[in-house]
Amino acid sequence: MAISTIEWSDGRIKMIDQTLLPNEFKQIYCDDLESIWEAIKSLRVRGAPAIGIAGALGTVLGIWDSKAETYQEFMKALKSATDYLATSRPTAVNLFWALDRMTKTAEANSHLSIPKLKDRLLAEAEEIIEEDKAMCRAIGQHGMALLHENDTILTHCNAGGLATSDYGTALAVMFSAHDAGKNIKVFADETRPLLQGARLTTWELMQAGIDVTLICDNMAAQVMKEGKIQCVIVGADRIAANGDTANKIGTYNVAILAQAHDIPFYVAAPTSTLDFALETGAEIPIEQRSAEEVTEGFGKATAPEGVKVYSPAFDVTPASLVSAIITEKGIARAPFTESLKALRG
Ligand code: MRU
Repeated sequence: MAISTIEWSDGRIKMIDQTLLPNEFKQIYCDDLESIWEAIKSLRVRGAPAIGIAGALGTVLGIWDSKAETYQEFMKALKSATDYLATSRPTAVNLFWALDRMTKTAEANSHLSIPKLKDRLLAEAEEIIEEDKAMCRAIGQHGMALLHENDTILTHCNAGGLATSDYGTALAVMFSAHDAGKNIKVFADETRPLLQGARLTTWELMQAGIDVTLICDNMAAQVMKEGKIQCVIVGADRIAANGDTANKIGTYNVAILAQAHDIPFYVAAPTSTLDFALETGAEIPIEQRSAEEVTEGFGKATAPEGVKVYSPAFDVTPASLVSAIITEKGIARAPFTESLKALRG
């Protein structure tokens, strides 16, 4: 990304408002905890790694103007900020990983004065951003080895630069292959109901000069049957210890279709998306979104008023459908319980 998805800017958080893309490219500022919470909740900033960064920067925002005079008072303010941010979205573990890392940093630096502690926390958040950039590049390098000349890849939702601080995860594999001169093509699912695939993934790939074709979610089976897809690559919001993977709703459908057509199904995600506290995906909390996103997304009613709606924002793909998990530390294959543990170290 030529322009940062999300960054710290003079005591405020600056981000691309992703709800406006692709029609309008606008950067907005969050200058208090409520506005960064709202930005995460309403998907102005979205995608697991970017949500983690928003959590880290949001923690800094939460304590930046704190008048705390003692370490205990400071930690109380920090806890209230992290507890609040933790209520924004439940599924992407990167948020909780980043909030925890910020808390541990404050705990490890209790000897610092309050102003120095604030600077230390900002430095930690900036470090998370730098690590995220390196992670994207490494995932790209590892993942491109799985692609062949003239492959066409199907992806779902957006796991690109907009979902991270640099190159993305699933899209990093495509960007890296393209940069290395491999001839690849991409099919992007539009990704109902919020259209991250149509609005964001195609936008990013077109800017990079990658051949991308948009399809509605329900076209994937036919496109696979026609032999147009050589592999699927998606991102992840949380991966349980056994490799079960939560990602945008509809990913599980794609994984079943991939298996039915004997097409490899790859997940690309940083190790910060692994949640070893959960043995299987059954324990992953699934965010429920509002009915309006389904019945009148983007301002136009597409269902009768008052209709009942069920709208889980994520689903869990069983590890048995995952051919490999591409991380910044290398590629894990089944049995994932062992391979993921070995990778995380
Ligand atoms: O609801 P969203 O847009 O935050 O969902 C995003 C996804 O499901 C992504 O695929 C996932 O977070 C990985 S982003 C690198």
